[in-house]
Amino acid sequence: TRSPVTVTVTGAAGQIGYALLFRIASGQLIDAETPIKLRLLEIPKAVTAAEGTAMELTDCAFPLLSDIEVTDDARKAFDGTNIAMLVGARPRSQGMERGDLLEANGGIFKPQGEAINAGAASDVRVLAVGNPANTNALITQAHAPDVPAERFTAMTRLDHNRALAQLAAKLGVSVAEIRRLAIWGNHSATQYPDIFHADVGGENAAEQVEQDWIRDDFIPTVSKRGAAIIEARGASSAASAANAAIDHVHTWVNGTDEGDWTSAGVVSDGSYGVPEGLISSFPVTARDGRYEIVQGLDIDAFSRERIDASVQELTEERDTVRRLGLV
Ligand code: NAI
Repeated sequence: TRSPVTVTVTGAAGQIGYALLFRIASGQLIDAETPIKLRLLEIPKAVTAAEGTAMELTDCAFPLLSDIEVTDDARKAFDGTNIAMLVGARPRSQGMERGDLLEANGGIFKPQGEAINAGAASDVRVLAVGNPANTNALITQAHAPDVPAERFTAMTRLDHNRALAQLAAKLGVSVAEIRRLAIWGNHSATQYPDIFHADVGGENAAEQVEQDWIRDDFIPTVSKRGAAIIEARGASSAASAANAAIDHVHTWVNGTDEGDWTSAGVVSDGSYGVPEGLISSFPVTARDGRYEIVQGLDIDAFSRERIDASVQELTEERDTVRRLGLV
């Protein structure tokens, strides 16, 4: 039997938490053989609700779920953790400025970074889902100096999956036929979904659609999809976000297919003019448990302008959290 993997989920009583935990416990995060120990972190007033979810997890009698602990103490939640899924965050309330939002989230992600630094397993991998995901990942990383920076990532896989689905629908093909699509930049409305390197059935994707469709339909549909879901559902994306979080970790651990890549927010090494140290979305491959930025892609003027705009927003977010002393 394999040794168990400890998975910490923050915001466990929230809507993404409810869609995520059962899939982790059923064996979809790593593989169908690795036992899972769950650590659920919540704020004090939501601990009882998280305990209710833990009762339901127990009642599923998942063969792989070897242990569950619920806590409001970050040190306990991240002690020995192998995979930290940071879902809980402070949402933007009415009239809140971006600086206030970043500051409120600093109050969450700074102590979590410190707790990861203090007690996580040496192979810990961290995924920030809670928004603003890229900058929350950066804050966490800044407070865990003993953990390699490459272990801190932000989720843009939902954007990636949304883009796959839109392109597949446009071309009347299965999503499985599309390879090498990419999301660049921030997980925000400025993100850039790029199909210029994508191929569908061995042919370039961008050459199979009209340029106007890319600019006026595809890009805005993907980047505003979160708002469209809220409008229709009366609540933000939850099951699709949880699904993407599963995909992100599963790919990180198990790798990408030969000749394909995916998208993730990872620490920039300066590639493609993205300032070193920013956590920005790139096309990435995964091998041997590491995400790596795909190198050497040609970026045309259309793409360049959009990547730069999103990276500029990330730079401004970083400058704000620097001023606040959070990184
Ligand atoms: P939710 O409001 O239903 O749940 C959030 C939970 O986090 C709450 O139970 C809250 O008590 C908890 N929480 C707050 N502060 C915490 C702390 N310091 N420690 C532990 N738990 C804490 O929100 P939902 O729908 O589950 O979304 C969670 C986050 O994910 C939001 O920030 C949302 O914007 C983000 N999101 C990101 C996506 C992405 O693609 N990166 C997609 C969809 C959502």
